[in-house]
Amino acid sequence: MPISFDSIRSISQEQALERAHAAKAKLGDKLTILGHHYQADEIVKMADITGDSLELSRKAAKVTSEYIVFCGVHFMAESADMLTADWQKVILPDLAAGCSMADMATHEELEAAIEYLEQDVGLSILPVTYVNSSAAVKKVVGAHGGVVCTSSNAAKIVTWALGQEDKTILFVPDQHLGRNTSFKLGVPLDKMPVWDPQTHDGGAGESAYKAARVILWKGHCSVHTRMNKADIDHWRATDPDRRILVHPECTFEVTQNADMAGSTSYILDVLANAPAGSKWAVGTEVNLVKRVAAMHKDKDIQPLSRVQCLCSTMFRIDPWHLCWVLENLAEGTVVNQIEVDDQTRRLATEALDRMLELSK
Ligand code: 13P
Ligand code: SF4
Repeated sequence: MPISFDSIRSISQEQALERAHAAKAKLGDKLTILGHHYQADEIVKMADITGDSLELSRKAAKVTSEYIVFCGVHFMAESADMLTADWQKVILPDLAAGCSMADMATHEELEAAIEYLEQDVGLSILPVTYVNSSAAVKKVVGAHGGVVCTSSNAAKIVTWALGQEDKTILFVPDQHLGRNTSFKLGVPLDKMPVWDPQTHDGGAGESAYKAARVILWKGHCSVHTRMNKADIDHWRATDPDRRILVHPECTFEVTQNADMAGSTSYILDVLANAPAGSKWAVGTEVNLVKRVAAMHKDKDIQPLSRVQCLCSTMFRIDPWHLCWVLENLAEGTVVNQIEVDDQTRRLATEALDRMLELSK
């Protein structure tokens, strides 16, 4: 009989953490806990391996334990399942920990878009999907010879894709990462029309798609698009020495007006290497900003936005859910396993492996 979540939800956070630690100790080498940088501190402290999505994909592929508890969101756990062996079990402590951006592209919508752009417009499409997408979307991408990317290898992957000059890139699902990355690589904005999956023909017009180098899926991150130029203007006016550092899921306007833009690992590197006394306003998920500020007390690191930009789905992985899955595992019961079916796995893994190969 599995231990019910209801029996755990009413205990205190301290009790949940204590019991989670005890269950973890009991599981020993059978367990690895992976934690994304956006997780809250108490979860990050429980993790054996922390990282951004690229680091976690690479490291998941090397984990040798039977159980992998993934403290992150659903698409990350799916990627971990695809990159690990059949006998290993990937567990997501709360199945409701999704990513609203990943939900903005379904595999049916992607198939319909590729079909329209190839059959009706006459293009040859090379799909590139941000890792923030379902395994089913990655499967469609793999089936069309495409590739996955993360925010830290997007420039490398898009450079590879742009090298295929007879192809038009369809970048899914984050229009902002696609636009920011491609613009930096020299693609002008008028060669990057948007594809709106809520329409049958994308909405930008056939001639715009014919002239396109990169077609951008109309998706976004609801956390990073909350940062805006007014936030930058506020810091520039009140504290001109403060440097603005943002994630490329922010809008084009924000990344263009910032001093620097880059992935989670880039942000961490810049702040680690910044001189003592330097001042920063950082445009990314608030748990990460607060943690990095606490790690570097000799620097003044503040969130860019004055509203809390918290990834609420990442935050669903809390001590109670972690305690619940670990206590069940310690009793030999697997709850909340994430399993990608074989057919999806085969093609999606091609797109993921292509990314790992290209980003070596
Ligand atoms: P990273 O690739 O930087 O880990 O980002 C993942 C993500 O979901 C950012 O919002
Ligand atoms: Fe998804 Fe945005 Fe949360 Fe990242 S921060 S997991 S893109 S909703």
